[in-house]
Amino acid sequence: MNSSLVFRRLFCSRGFSASCRESELVGAGALPPHAEEASLYLHWPFCLRRCSYCNFNKYVPRRVDNAAMTRCLVKETATLLRLSRVARINSVFFGGGTPSLASPSTIAAVLETVSQNAHLPNEAEVTLEVNPTPTGMAKLKDFTEAGVNRFSVGVQSLRDDDLKRLGRDHSSWEALKAISEARTLCPGRVSVDVMFGLPGQSVESWEGELERVLDVCDDHVSLYQLTLERGTQLFKQVEFGEQTVPGDDVTAVMYRTARRILENRGFLQYEVSNFAKNGAVSLHNLGYWRARQYIGVGPGAHGRFVPQAEGAVQREARTQTLEPDVWMREVQQVGHGTRRRTRLTQLALLEEVLVMALRMTDGLTHQDWAMFNPDAGLHCILGQSEDVLELQERGLLILDVRGLRCSWEGLALLDSMLPTLLFHLEKYISNQEKQKEEGSPSLCQGGKSKTR
Ligand SMILES: C[S@@+](CC[C@H](N)C(=O)[O-])C[C@H]1O[C@@H](n2cnc3c(N)ncnc32)[C@H](O)[C@@H]1O
Ligand code: SF4
Repeated sequence: MNSSLVFRRLFCSRGFSASCRESELVGAGALPPHAEEASLYLHWPFCLRRCSYCNFNKYVPRRVDNAAMTRCLVKETATLLRLSRVARINSVFFGGGTPSLASPSTIAAVLETVSQNAHLPNEAEVTLEVNPTPTGMAKLKDFTEAGVNRFSVGVQSLRDDDLKRLGRDHSSWEALKAISEARTLCPGRVSVDVMFGLPGQSVESWEGELERVLDVCDDHVSLYQLTLERGTQLFKQVEFGEQTVPGDDVTAVMYRTARRILENRGFLQYEVSNFAKNGAVSLHNLGYWRARQYIGVGPGAHGRFVPQAEGAVQREARTQTLEPDVWMREVQQVGHGTRRRTRLTQLALLEEVLVMALRMTDGLTHQDWAMFNPDAGLHCILGQSEDVLELQERGLLILDVRGLRCSWEGLALLDSMLPTLLFHLEKYISNQEKQKEEGSPSLCQGGKSKTR
Protein backbone atom coordinates (compact mmCIF):
# COMPACT_ATOMS: atom_id res chain seq x y z
CA MET A 1 0.00 0.00 0.00
CA ASN A 2 1.21 3.49 -0.80
CA SER A 3 1.87 5.56 2.28
CA SER A 4 3.65 8.50 0.67
CA LEU A 5 0.77 10.95 0.75
CA VAL A 6 0.48 11.03 4.51
CA PHE A 7 3.86 12.69 4.83
CA ARG A 8 2.87 15.67 2.75
CA ARG A 9 3.55 18.95 4.38
CA LEU A 10 0.41 20.92 5.16
CA PHE A 11 0.35 24.42 3.62
CA CYS A 12 1.74 24.22 4.04
CA SER A 13 -3.68 25.73 16.91
CA ARG A 14 -6.46 24.32 21.68
CA GLY A 15 -7.97 22.36 24.33
CA PHE A 16 -11.23 20.55 24.15
CA SER A 17 -14.07 21.26 26.48
CA ALA A 18 -16.08 18.06 26.95
CA SER A 19 -19.33 19.86 27.66
CA CYS A 20 -19.82 21.94 24.56
CA ARG A 21 -22.33 24.72 24.83
CA GLU A 22 -25.50 24.57 22.78
CA SER A 23 -24.38 27.41 20.53
CA GLU A 24 -21.31 25.41 19.62
CA LEU A 25 -23.24 22.46 18.26
CA VAL A 26 -23.57 22.05 14.53
CA GLY A 27 -27.16 22.17 13.45
CA ALA A 28 -29.52 24.32 11.47
CA GLY A 29 -28.54 27.93 11.98
CA ALA A 30 -25.93 27.14 14.62
CA LEU A 31 -22.27 28.05 14.44
CA PRO A 32 -19.69 25.26 14.16
CA PRO A 33 -17.62 24.58 17.30
CA HIS A 34 -15.03 27.10 18.47
CA ALA A 35 -16.25 29.81 16.08
CA GLU A 36 -15.16 32.50 18.53
CA GLU A 37 -11.46 31.64 18.23
CA ALA A 38 -8.92 30.81 15.54
CA SER A 39 -5.27 30.55 14.72
CA LEU A 40 -3.59 32.71 12.10
CA TYR A 41 -1.26 31.58 9.31
CA LEU A 42 0.71 34.22 7.42
CA HIS A 43 2.47 33.41 4.15
CA TRP A 44 5.66 35.23 3.15
CA PRO A 45 6.03 34.16 -0.50
CA PHE A 46 9.62 35.10 -1.30
CA CYS A 47 12.77 32.98 -1.37
CA LEU A 48 16.42 33.55 -2.27
CA ARG A 49 16.50 30.49 -4.50
CA ARG A 50 14.17 27.88 -5.88
CA CYS A 51 14.77 24.49 -4.30
CA SER A 52 14.62 21.74 -6.90
CA TYR A 53 11.80 19.79 -5.18
CA CYS A 54 9.53 22.60 -3.99
CA ASN A 55 6.13 23.47 -5.45
CA PHE A 56 4.98 25.78 -2.68
CA ASN A 57 3.72 29.25 -3.59
CA LYS A 58 7.07 31.04 -3.69
CA TYR A 59 8.80 33.61 -5.87
CA VAL A 60 12.42 34.68 -6.32
CA PRO A 61 12.10 38.41 -7.13
CA ARG A 62 14.94 40.83 -7.87
CA ARG A 63 13.72 43.05 -5.06
CA VAL A 64 10.84 43.09 -2.58
CA ASP A 65 9.03 46.28 -1.58
CA ASN A 66 9.04 45.47 2.13
CA ALA A 67 7.10 48.55 3.17
CA ALA A 68 4.27 47.90 0.68
CA MET A 69 4.23 44.19 1.55
CA THR A 70 3.98 45.02 5.26
CA ARG A 71 1.12 47.47 4.68
CA CYS A 72 -0.78 44.83 2.70
CA LEU A 73 -0.18 42.03 5.21
CA VAL A 74 -1.36 44.31 8.02
CA LYS A 75 -4.42 45.40 6.05
CA GLU A 76 -5.44 41.86 5.11
CA THR A 77 -4.89 40.63 8.68
CA ALA A 78 -7.22 43.35 10.00
CA THR A 79 -9.86 42.74 7.29
CA LEU A 80 -10.02 38.98 7.80
CA LEU A 81 -9.99 39.23 11.60
CA ARG A 82 -12.93 41.66 11.47
CA LEU A 83 -14.73 39.43 8.99
CA SER A 84 -14.32 36.38 11.21
CA ARG A 85 -15.30 38.29 14.37
CA VAL A 86 -13.10 35.92 16.40
CA ALA A 87 -12.46 37.16 19.90
CA ARG A 88 -9.20 35.29 20.35
CA ILE A 89 -6.20 34.19 18.29
CA ASN A 90 -4.54 31.18 19.88
CA SER A 91 -1.42 30.93 17.75
CA VAL A 92 0.32 32.59 14.85
CA PHE A 93 2.52 30.86 12.27
CA PHE A 94 4.73 32.79 9.83
CA GLY A 95 5.43 30.35 6.98
CA GLY A 96 6.55 30.53 3.43
CA GLY A 97 8.42 30.86 1.23
CA THR A 98 11.11 32.15 3.49
CA PRO A 99 9.60 34.36 6.20
CA SER A 100 13.00 34.72 7.87
CA LEU A 101 13.80 37.02 4.93
CA ALA A 102 11.05 39.40 6.08
CA SER A 103 11.90 42.29 8.31
CA PRO A 104 11.30 41.82 12.07
CA SER A 105 9.30 45.07 11.90
CA THR A 106 6.87 43.33 9.49
CA ILE A 107 6.37 40.51 12.01
CA ALA A 108 5.89 43.07 14.81
CA ALA A 109 3.36 45.06 12.74
CA VAL A 110 1.28 41.96 11.97
CA LEU A 111 1.28 40.84 15.63
CA GLU A 112 0.30 44.35 16.71
CA THR A 113 -2.64 44.24 14.27
CA VAL A 114 -3.72 40.86 15.63
CA SER A 115 -3.68 42.30 19.17
CA GLN A 116 -5.71 45.33 18.08
CA ASN A 117 -8.43 43.16 16.53
CA ALA A 118 -8.58 40.15 18.85
CA HIS A 119 -7.15 38.89 22.10
CA LEU A 120 -3.66 37.47 21.51
CA PRO A 121 -2.61 35.97 24.84
CA ASN A 122 0.95 36.69 25.96
CA GLU A 123 1.66 32.96 26.06
CA ALA A 124 0.28 32.31 22.53
CA GLU A 125 2.62 30.28 20.33
CA VAL A 126 4.17 32.46 17.61
CA THR A 127 6.29 30.44 15.18
CA LEU A 128 8.57 31.62 12.41
CA GLU A 129 10.00 29.32 9.73
CA VAL A 130 13.72 29.94 9.35
CA ASN A 131 15.99 29.08 6.44
CA PRO A 132 19.54 28.70 7.74
CA THR A 133 20.91 31.40 5.45
CA PRO A 134 23.04 34.24 6.84
CA THR A 135 20.37 36.76 5.74
CA GLY A 136 17.72 35.22 7.95
CA MET A 137 19.93 34.27 10.85
CA ALA A 138 21.31 37.72 11.49
CA LYS A 139 17.80 38.71 12.55
CA LEU A 140 16.82 35.84 14.85
CA LYS A 141 17.14 37.91 18.01
CA ASP A 142 15.16 40.78 16.45
CA PHE A 143 12.43 38.30 15.53
CA THR A 144 12.08 37.28 19.18
CA GLU A 145 11.91 40.95 20.16
CA ALA A 146 9.13 41.33 17.59
CA GLY A 147 7.13 38.59 19.36
CA VAL A 148 8.28 35.28 17.86
CA ASN A 149 8.67 32.61 20.57
CA ARG A 150 9.18 29.49 18.48
CA PHE A 151 11.40 28.74 15.49
CA SER A 152 10.98 26.05 12.86
CA VAL A 153 14.33 25.57 11.14
CA GLY A 154 14.37 24.12 7.61
CA VAL A 155 17.39 21.84 7.92
CA GLN A 156 16.22 19.22 5.38
CA SER A 157 19.55 17.39 5.41
CA LEU A 158 22.92 17.60 7.14
CA ARG A 159 24.82 16.36 4.08
CA ASP A 160 26.24 19.11 1.90
CA ASP A 161 26.01 17.07 -1.30
CA ASP A 162 22.29 16.46 -0.64
CA LEU A 163 21.71 20.15 0.10
CA LYS A 164 23.42 21.09 -3.15
CA ARG A 165 21.41 18.56 -5.13
CA LEU A 166 18.20 19.91 -3.59
CA GLY A 167 19.17 23.47 -4.56
CA ARG A 168 19.19 24.65 -0.93
CA ASP A 169 20.62 28.07 -0.17
CA HIS A 170 22.67 26.98 2.87
CA SER A 171 25.31 24.50 4.02
CA SER A 172 25.04 21.90 6.77
CA TRP A 173 27.36 24.04 8.91
CA GLU A 174 24.94 26.97 8.58
CA ALA A 175 22.06 24.67 9.51
CA LEU A 176 23.88 23.57 12.68
CA LYS A 177 24.60 27.21 13.53
CA ALA A 178 20.95 28.16 12.99
CA ILE A 179 19.73 25.39 15.30
CA SER A 180 22.21 26.38 17.99
CA GLU A 181 21.33 30.10 17.83
CA ALA A 182 17.60 29.41 17.72
CA ARG A 183 17.94 27.14 20.80
CA THR A 184 19.77 29.86 22.69
CA LEU A 185 16.98 32.33 21.94
CA CYS A 186 13.98 30.00 22.40
CA PRO A 187 15.12 27.05 24.50
CA GLY A 188 12.71 24.11 24.20
CA ARG A 189 10.80 25.83 21.40
CA VAL A 190 12.79 25.02 18.30
CA SER A 191 11.66 22.55 15.67
CA VAL A 192 13.68 21.15 12.80
CA ASP A 193 12.34 19.99 9.43
CA VAL A 194 14.17 17.03 7.92
CA MET A 195 13.40 15.19 4.69
CA PHE A 196 13.97 11.54 3.82
CA GLY A 197 13.68 9.56 0.61
CA LEU A 198 16.22 11.89 -1.00
CA PRO A 199 17.95 11.05 -4.29
CA GLY A 200 20.60 8.41 -3.72
CA GLN A 201 19.74 7.98 -0.02
CA SER A 202 19.96 4.50 1.51
CA VAL A 203 18.31 3.31 4.74
CA GLU A 204 21.74 3.25 6.41
CA SER A 205 22.72 6.76 5.36
CA TRP A 206 19.30 8.04 6.48
CA GLU A 207 19.68 6.39 9.91
CA GLY A 208 23.11 7.98 10.35
CA GLU A 209 21.82 11.36 9.30
CA LEU A 210 18.81 11.27 11.61
CA GLU A 211 21.06 10.34 14.54
CA ARG A 212 23.21 13.39 13.73
CA VAL A 213 20.15 15.61 13.63
CA LEU A 214 18.99 14.25 16.98
CA ASP A 215 22.40 15.01 18.51
CA VAL A 216 21.95 18.71 17.84
CA CYS A 217 18.20 19.34 17.74
CA ASP A 218 15.88 20.69 20.38
CA ASP A 219 12.55 19.19 21.49
CA HIS A 220 10.64 19.01 18.20
CA VAL A 221 11.29 17.26 14.90
CA SER A 222 9.19 17.16 11.72
CA LEU A 223 10.04 14.41 9.23
CA TYR A 224 8.85 14.70 5.67
CA GLN A 225 9.14 12.10 2.98
CA LEU A 226 10.27 13.83 -0.19
CA THR A 227 7.31 14.11 -2.54
CA LEU A 228 8.12 14.39 -6.23
CA GLU A 229 5.97 17.31 -7.27
CA ARG A 230 5.04 17.69 -10.94
CA GLY A 231 6.57 20.81 -12.48
CA THR A 232 9.61 20.87 -10.21
CA GLN A 233 13.17 20.51 -11.45
CA LEU A 234 13.64 17.34 -9.41
CA PHE A 235 10.54 15.77 -10.94
CA LYS A 236 12.02 16.28 -14.40
CA GLN A 237 15.45 15.02 -13.34
CA VAL A 238 13.88 11.80 -12.04
CA GLU A 239 11.71 11.48 -15.13
CA PHE A 240 14.77 11.75 -17.40
CA GLY A 241 16.77 9.31 -15.29
CA GLU A 242 19.26 11.96 -14.10
CA GLN A 243 18.37 11.29 -10.44
CA THR A 244 16.91 8.26 -8.74
CA VAL A 245 14.86 8.32 -5.58
CA PRO A 246 14.29 5.35 -3.27
CA GLY A 247 11.18 3.29 -4.03
CA ASP A 248 8.09 3.02 -1.80
CA ASP A 249 9.34 -0.16 -0.14
CA VAL A 250 12.59 1.59 0.87
CA THR A 251 10.91 4.78 2.10
CA ALA A 252 8.49 2.65 4.14
CA VAL A 253 11.50 1.10 5.91
CA MET A 254 13.06 4.57 6.32
CA TYR A 255 9.92 5.84 8.01
CA ARG A 256 9.60 2.82 10.28
CA THR A 257 13.28 3.04 11.27
CA ALA A 258 13.02 6.77 11.92
CA ARG A 259 10.03 6.26 14.23
CA ARG A 260 11.97 3.66 16.24
CA ILE A 261 15.08 5.85 16.45
CA LEU A 262 13.06 8.87 17.58
CA GLU A 263 11.23 6.77 20.17
CA ASN A 264 14.53 5.45 21.54
CA ARG A 265 15.78 9.02 21.83
CA GLY A 266 12.78 10.04 23.94
CA PHE A 267 10.63 11.66 21.25
CA LEU A 268 6.93 10.94 21.33
CA GLN A 269 5.23 10.72 17.96
CA TYR A 270 2.02 12.75 18.09
CA GLU A 271 1.27 13.00 14.38
CA VAL A 272 2.25 11.22 11.15
CA SER A 273 5.27 13.51 10.61
CA ASN A 274 5.75 15.14 14.02
CA PHE A 275 7.66 14.14 17.13
CA ALA A 276 8.19 16.00 20.40
CA LYS A 277 9.80 15.57 23.78
CA ASN A 278 9.02 17.42 26.99
CA GLY A 279 5.54 18.15 25.62
CA ALA A 280 6.90 20.57 23.00
CA VAL A 281 4.12 19.83 20.48
CA SER A 282 3.19 22.43 17.87
CA LEU A 283 -0.03 23.97 19.17
CA HIS A 284 -0.61 25.74 15.88
CA ASN A 285 -0.52 22.53 13.86
CA LEU A 286 -2.66 20.74 16.47
CA GLY A 287 -5.29 23.33 15.64
CA TYR A 288 -5.30 22.17 12.00
CA TRP A 289 -5.49 18.50 12.96
CA ARG A 290 -8.33 19.18 15.40
CA ALA A 291 -10.19 20.99 12.62
CA ARG A 292 -10.25 24.31 14.45
CA GLN A 293 -10.69 27.58 12.60
CA TYR A 294 -7.72 29.31 11.02
CA ILE A 295 -7.30 32.54 9.13
CA GLY A 296 -4.86 32.57 6.20
CA VAL A 297 -3.17 35.84 5.30
CA GLY A 298 -0.77 36.54 2.42
CA PRO A 299 -0.40 35.36 -1.18
CA GLY A 300 -1.74 31.85 -1.64
CA ALA A 301 -2.61 31.35 2.04
CA HIS A 302 -5.52 29.05 2.93
CA GLY A 303 -8.06 29.64 5.66
CA ARG A 304 -11.07 27.92 7.23
CA PHE A 305 -13.41 30.17 9.20
CA VAL A 306 -16.96 31.47 9.49
CA PRO A 307 -17.25 35.00 8.07
CA GLN A 308 -19.53 36.02 10.94
CA ALA A 309 -19.50 39.71 10.06
CA GLU A 310 -21.48 38.77 6.93
CA GLY A 311 -24.06 36.96 9.05
CA ALA A 312 -22.77 33.54 7.99
CA VAL A 313 -22.99 30.52 10.26
CA GLN A 314 -21.10 28.04 8.09
CA ARG A 315 -17.37 27.69 7.81
CA GLU A 316 -15.76 28.68 4.51
CA ALA A 317 -12.62 27.38 2.84
CA ARG A 318 -10.80 30.46 1.56
CA THR A 319 -7.74 30.81 -0.66
CA GLN A 320 -5.90 34.05 -1.18
CA THR A 321 -4.63 35.16 -4.60
CA LEU A 322 -1.35 33.46 -5.45
CA GLU A 323 0.74 36.09 -7.27
CA PRO A 324 2.16 38.67 -4.84
CA ASP A 325 1.70 41.65 -7.24
CA VAL A 326 -1.92 40.83 -7.98
CA TRP A 327 -2.60 40.01 -4.32
CA MET A 328 -1.15 43.40 -3.26
CA ARG A 329 -3.34 45.27 -5.75
CA GLU A 330 -6.44 43.49 -4.47
CA VAL A 331 -5.57 44.17 -0.84
CA GLN A 332 -4.97 47.84 -1.62
CA GLN A 333 -8.31 48.06 -3.43
CA VAL A 334 -10.67 46.01 -1.28
CA GLY A 335 -8.75 45.21 1.89
CA HIS A 336 -8.11 41.53 1.16
CA GLY A 337 -6.98 39.25 -1.66
CA THR A 338 -9.41 36.37 -1.25
CA ARG A 339 -9.57 34.63 -4.62
CA ARG A 340 -11.79 31.64 -3.81
CA ARG A 341 -14.46 31.06 -1.16
CA THR A 342 -16.28 27.77 -0.75
CA ARG A 343 -18.92 27.26 1.88
CA LEU A 344 -18.17 23.96 3.59
CA THR A 345 -21.10 21.56 3.59
CA GLN A 346 -21.62 19.35 6.63
CA LEU A 347 -20.08 16.47 4.67
CA ALA A 348 -17.00 18.51 3.71
CA LEU A 349 -16.56 19.67 7.31
CA LEU A 350 -16.86 16.13 8.70
CA GLU A 351 -14.46 14.80 6.08
CA GLU A 352 -11.87 17.32 7.25
CA VAL A 353 -12.52 16.49 10.90
CA LEU A 354 -11.96 12.79 10.19
CA VAL A 355 -9.00 13.04 7.81
CA MET A 356 -7.09 15.57 9.90
CA ALA A 357 -7.70 13.89 13.27
CA LEU A 358 -6.55 10.49 12.05
CA ARG A 359 -3.11 12.01 11.37
CA MET A 360 -2.68 12.34 15.15
CA THR A 361 -1.68 9.34 17.26
CA ASP A 362 -4.55 10.28 19.62
CA GLY A 363 -6.95 10.21 16.67
CA LEU A 364 -10.51 11.45 16.96
CA THR A 365 -12.28 11.36 20.33
CA HIS A 366 -16.01 10.69 20.57
CA GLN A 367 -16.42 14.07 22.29
CA ASP A 368 -14.69 15.97 19.49
CA TRP A 369 -16.73 14.15 16.87
CA ALA A 370 -19.99 14.85 18.75
CA MET A 371 -19.16 18.55 18.74
CA PHE A 372 -19.12 18.56 14.95
CA ASN A 373 -21.81 15.94 14.44
CA PRO A 374 -24.17 15.59 17.38
CA ASP A 375 -26.61 13.48 15.33
CA ALA A 376 -24.61 10.27 15.12
CA GLY A 377 -21.52 8.84 16.75
CA LEU A 378 -18.51 7.15 15.20
CA HIS A 379 -19.76 3.67 16.13
CA CYS A 380 -23.03 4.31 14.40
CA ILE A 381 -21.41 5.62 11.19
CA LEU A 382 -18.39 3.36 10.92
CA GLY A 383 -18.78 0.59 13.49
CA GLN A 384 -21.22 -1.52 11.44
CA SER A 385 -19.10 -1.59 8.26
CA GLU A 386 -17.40 -4.86 7.38
CA ASP A 387 -14.53 -2.96 5.74
CA VAL A 388 -13.90 -1.00 8.91
CA LEU A 389 -14.14 -4.17 10.98
CA GLU A 390 -11.57 -5.75 8.70
CA LEU A 391 -9.18 -2.82 9.22
CA GLN A 392 -9.64 -3.30 12.97
CA GLU A 393 -9.05 -7.05 12.72
CA ARG A 394 -5.87 -6.42 10.73
CA GLY A 395 -4.68 -4.27 13.62
CA LEU A 396 -4.53 -1.04 11.59
CA LEU A 397 -7.45 0.88 13.06
CA ILE A 398 -8.86 1.15 16.59
CA LEU A 399 -12.46 2.13 17.39
CA ASP A 400 -13.06 1.94 21.13
CA VAL A 401 -14.32 3.91 24.14
CA ARG A 402 -11.86 6.72 23.44
CA GLY A 403 -12.69 7.16 19.78
CA LEU A 404 -11.14 6.33 16.41
CA ARG A 405 -7.41 6.19 15.79
CA CYS A 406 -4.70 4.45 13.82
CA SER A 407 -2.49 1.81 15.39
CA TRP A 408 1.29 2.19 15.14
CA GLU A 409 1.27 0.17 11.90
CA GLY A 410 -1.91 1.85 10.67
CA LEU A 411 -0.49 5.38 10.88
CA ALA A 412 1.96 4.55 8.06
CA LEU A 413 -0.94 3.29 5.94
CA LEU A 414 -3.45 6.02 6.70
CA ASP A 415 -3.82 7.10 3.06
CA SER A 416 -4.87 3.65 2.00
CA MET A 417 -7.57 3.49 4.72
CA LEU A 418 -9.10 6.90 4.14
CA PRO A 419 -11.16 6.03 1.02
CA THR A 420 -13.00 3.32 3.01
CA LEU A 421 -13.72 5.63 5.95
CA LEU A 422 -14.79 8.50 3.71
CA PHE A 423 -17.06 6.20 1.71
CA HIS A 424 -18.99 5.27 4.89
CA LEU A 425 -19.16 8.86 6.02
CA GLU A 426 -20.57 9.92 2.67
CA LYS A 427 -23.09 7.05 2.78
CA TYR A 428 -24.23 8.16 6.24
CA ILE A 429 -24.68 11.80 5.16
CA SER A 430 -26.62 10.91 2.04
CA ASN A 431 -28.90 8.52 4.04
CA GLN A 432 -29.42 11.23 6.62
CA GLU A 433 -30.43 13.72 3.92
CA LYS A 434 -32.85 11.17 2.40
CA GLN A 435 -34.39 10.48 5.81
CA LYS A 436 -34.79 14.18 6.47
CA GLU A 437 -36.55 14.62 3.13
CA GLU A 438 -38.86 11.69 3.90
CA GLY A 439 -39.39 12.89 7.45
CA SER A 440 -38.35 9.51 8.84
CA PRO A 441 -36.29 9.38 12.06
CA SER A 442 -32.52 9.16 11.87
CA LEU A 443 -31.05 5.71 12.45
CA CYS A 444 -28.51 7.10 14.91
CA GLN A 445 -30.26 9.44 17.31
CA GLY A 446 -28.90 11.39 20.19
CA GLY A 447 -25.23 11.56 19.21
CA LYS A 448 -24.26 8.95 21.82
CA SER A 449 -21.52 6.64 20.64
CA LYS A 450 -22.22 3.02 21.32
CA THR A 451 -19.10 1.39 22.60
CA ARG A 452 -18.32 -2.24 22.23
C1 LIG B 1 7.78 24.98 1.99
S1 LIG B 1 9.01 24.90 3.20
C2 LIG B 1 9.04 26.51 3.82
C3 LIG B 1 10.11 26.69 4.86
C4 LIG B 1 11.46 27.10 4.35
N1 LIG B 1 11.41 27.90 3.20
C5 LIG B 1 12.33 25.90 4.08
O1 LIG B 1 12.50 25.54 2.94
O2 LIG B 1 12.86 25.37 5.05
C6 LIG B 1 8.31 24.00 4.54
C7 LIG B 1 8.77 22.57 4.63
O3 LIG B 1 8.11 21.80 3.66
C8 LIG B 1 8.88 20.65 3.37
N2 LIG B 1 8.77 20.40 1.94
C9 LIG B 1 8.74 21.30 0.94
N3 LIG B 1 8.62 20.68 -0.25
C10 LIG B 1 8.58 19.35 0.00
C11 LIG B 1 8.48 18.18 -0.82
N4 LIG B 1 8.42 18.26 -2.13
N5 LIG B 1 8.44 16.98 -0.20
C12 LIG B 1 8.50 16.89 1.14
N6 LIG B 1 8.62 17.95 1.96
C13 LIG B 1 8.65 19.17 1.40
C14 LIG B 1 10.31 20.95 3.80
O4 LIG B 1 10.72 20.05 4.80
C15 LIG B 1 10.22 22.35 4.36
O5 LIG B 1 10.95 22.50 5.54
S1 SF4 C 1 13.40 27.80 0.56
FE1 SF4 C 1 11.59 26.62 1.23
S2 SF4 C 1 9.84 27.61 0.24
FE2 SF4 C 1 11.70 28.41 -0.76
S3 SF4 C 1 11.95 27.13 -2.53
FE3 SF4 C 1 13.13 26.18 -0.91
S4 SF4 C 1 11.72 24.71 0.08
FE4 SF4 C 1 10.50 26.07 -1.18
